[in-house]
Amino acid sequence: METINSVRGFRDILPPETDKWQRVEKTAHEVFRSFGFREIRIPVLEKTELFRRGIGESTDIVEKEMYTFTDRGEESLTLRPEATASVIRAYIEHSLHASETVTKLYTIGPMFRRERPQKGRYRQFHQIDTEILGPDDPRTDAELILMLTHFLRKLGLENLALEINSLGCPNCRPAFQKAIVSFLRGREKELCPDCQRRLNTNPLRIFDCKVESCQTVIADAPRLPEYLCGDCRKHFETLQESLGLFSLPFTLNPKMVRGLDYYTRTTFEITTEFLGAQNAVVGGGRYDHLVRDLGGPDIPGIGFAIGFERLIAMMPEADDALPPLLFIAAMGEAALKKAFHICNSLRMKGLAVEMDYAGRSLKSQMKRADKLRCRYALIVGDREIEENRASLRNMRTGEQQEARLDMLEETIIQLER
Ligand code: HAM
Repeated sequence: METINSVRGFRDILPPETDKWQRVEKTAHEVFRSFGFREIRIPVLEKTELFRRGIGESTDIVEKEMYTFTDRGEESLTLRPEATASVIRAYIEHSLHASETVTKLYTIGPMFRRERPQKGRYRQFHQIDTEILGPDDPRTDAELILMLTHFLRKLGLENLALEINSLGCPNCRPAFQKAIVSFLRGREKELCPDCQRRLNTNPLRIFDCKVESCQTVIADAPRLPEYLCGDCRKHFETLQESLGLFSLPFTLNPKMVRGLDYYTRTTFEITTEFLGAQNAVVGGGRYDHLVRDLGGPDIPGIGFAIGFERLIAMMPEADDALPPLLFIAAMGEAALKKAFHICNSLRMKGLAVEMDYAGRSLKSQMKRADKLRCRYALIVGDREIEENRASLRNMRTGEQQEARLDMLEETIIQLER
C-alpha cells in the first residue's frame, strides 16, 4: 500500500536529536528561572484578528504566511506564526498586570508560517520565546539581552554576532517615515510591486524586503537612528552602556527593522553565517504599545524569540545520550522471570536498565548489551536464581564479580561511586 509522508515543511524530530532538544529546554528552564521568568503555555490556535492587529496587516507574515482557516463554526482561526501576540493576549485576558508590576514570561513551542522550506526554514518550527511586561527602562533591555547571550554561551555557542538598533517611538518615527518616502519618490519604478504599495502603507517594511533591487534602492536611504528623539536616543545610549559593562560585543545595524510591526525603540538580532541566507537565530525587541493596541492597559514590553531548529543546527556535537547502567542477560525460564522483576523494579527506582525477553543466546544478549553501551551486565541462569547470586561484569574493563541478587541495587550504586 502507498505510504503517507509528513506535510512539506513539517518535520519529525527523532532521537538522538531529541536529546539535544531536551538539553536546550533544561538549560532554558534553569537560566530563565534565575532571571525571574516563569513559564506560560498558550494554545497554538488563536482568532485571526489577534495576529492581524498584533503583528500588522502589511507584514509578510500576515499578508502571505499564515495558516488561516474558517472552522466549522464559521470563525476565522490561525495557527500561531509567533508567540508574542498570544502571550500578550493571555496577559490581558487574565489581568496578569494587576498582580505584578513586572511580569516575566517564557514559552517554548511550535509556530507555523507558510514560507518556502529550505535549510533552517520550516513551516512548522519551534521558538523559545521570552517577554518582559511592565518596565520601560533600558536596563531591562540590557538584562534581557544579557540573559540571552548567557543562555547561548551555556549551550556552547560562542562568537555570536549581536546586532542592535532603535526604531524610535511615535514621536520620532513619523519624521523618519516622511524622510524615507521623500527619498524614494521618483524611484518607485525600481521597487517591487509589494514595496510600491508599502511606500504608502508601511515604508519601514521596504528595509526588510528580500528583493535585490529594493535592497539596492534602500541602501543609501536615511537611517533611523539619525531621527531619534531625545528620549529614544538616551534610551539607546543607556542600553549600549549597560551592555558595555559586561563587555558584550555588539554592532549597530541601522537598517534592521524586524519583520513585525509592533516594535518600538530597541530591536536586536543574533545572526550566524552558519545558516547561509537564513541567518537570524534570534530576533527581538521592545513593543511599548502592543498591550494597549490589543485592548489592554498602556504597559510596555520587550522580548525575543530563538529559532529552536536553527539553534540546534549551530550547537556543537555533544554526547547527550546517557547509556543504560545495566543489562540483564537471563538464561532459562526462572531466570527470565526473576530478571523481568529485577529489571523493572530497578527502573522504577530511577536506574536505566535493559534486558531482552526473547530468551536468545548469551552471546547475542551480550552483543546487545555492547551495542547499547551498557556499563554493567548481569548474567543470570536458573541455578544462580536459586542461589541468590549472579555475575556482574564491568563492560568497560571486562572485570567480573559475584553479586547477591537481593543486594543488587546497593552493589551497583556502590560500584558507581
Ligand atoms: P521573528 O524574527 O519573526 O520574531 O522570529 C524569531 C526567530 O524564529 C528567527 O530569528 C528564527 O530563528 C526563527 N524562525 C522564524 N521563522 C522561521 C522558520 N520559518 N523556520 C525556522 N525558524 C524560524 C518573532 O517571532 C518575535 N515574536 C520575537 C519577539 C518576541 N519579539 C518580541 N518578543
